Amino acid sequence: MQLIDGKSLANKVQTSVATEVEQLKQEKNIVPGLAVILIGDDPASHAYVKMKAKACEKVGFYSITHSMPDAISQEEIIATIEMMNNNPRIDGILVQLPLPKHVDTDKILEVIDPKKDVDGFHAYNVGRLVTNLDSFVACTPLGVMKMFEEYNIELEGKDVCVVGASNIVGKPMAALLLNANATVTVTHIFTKDLKAHTLQADIVIVGVGVPGLIKEDMVKEGAIVIDIGINRIADGSLVGDVDFKNVSPKCSYITPVPGGVGPMTIAMLLSNTLKSAKQRA
Ligand code: GUN
Repeated sequence: MQLIDGKSLANKVQTSVATEVEQLKQEKNIVPGLAVILIGDDPASHAYVKMKAKACEKVGFYSITHSMPDAISQEEIIATIEMMNNNPRIDGILVQLPLPKHVDTDKILEVIDPKKDVDGFHAYNVGRLVTNLDSFVACTPLGVMKMFEEYNIELEGKDVCVVGASNIVGKPMAALLLNANATVTVTHIFTKDLKAHTLQADIVIVGVGVPGLIKEDMVKEGAIVIDIGINRIADGSLVGDVDFKNVSPKCSYITPVPGGVGPMTIAMLLSNTLKSAKQRA
């Protein structure tokens, strides 16, 4: 069993982004800029946004965080996004999800300029991803693809089971895998027999937020298991969606939680923002 070390790969990506930022500054006088819009007081969202701002600072980006109260109107959020769309110093706009219940998330995401949509959530970018055209791709699934590349894990012809069909993880993950010529099964909350699907897969990728969902009798010997879940359990520790202790001995490769996919999400956000800044250049 080999651990896929997301923390060290994320550091490697960040170092390479920082080098390119320096070049972009020297040669074109451009500093990549990221605007983060954070609404409400969800502690997890605040923690993630803080990590994103810190990462931006580390690689030499310009970054601003617009923090707004939970009761903010949809119109005010839209006005802030439009301001960022028109701000020439901003290359990437990220609206931290989830949004408060009174806000229409789909509508908000559609207001972001697709050229600044570094989260890859806009329908324009999703459509381009599905048709295998160059686009901004959601950071978590993009980070998983980067892990496959780094560890020379071949995808062509592999049976991959994606557990979870969200717009921000499962669906873009499935599209990326299809584009890489894998045979993809997407399972979700209405799937009749989850185990029947995970058990036949060469690669299982799970991101649903259910601690310990994937158990040892659900994966085949030698499987590759990618755990996108991050769950805080009663004792305060962080665990994934995979019963790591019992599943890992069966795996050829597995990602830990923490230190697996999590750090890759932020690294790919930096990478996407740099890509946008280079397009501006
Ligand atoms: N909430 C959970 N994951 C994400 C993400 O990747 N991007 C944004 N904007 N919000 C999130």
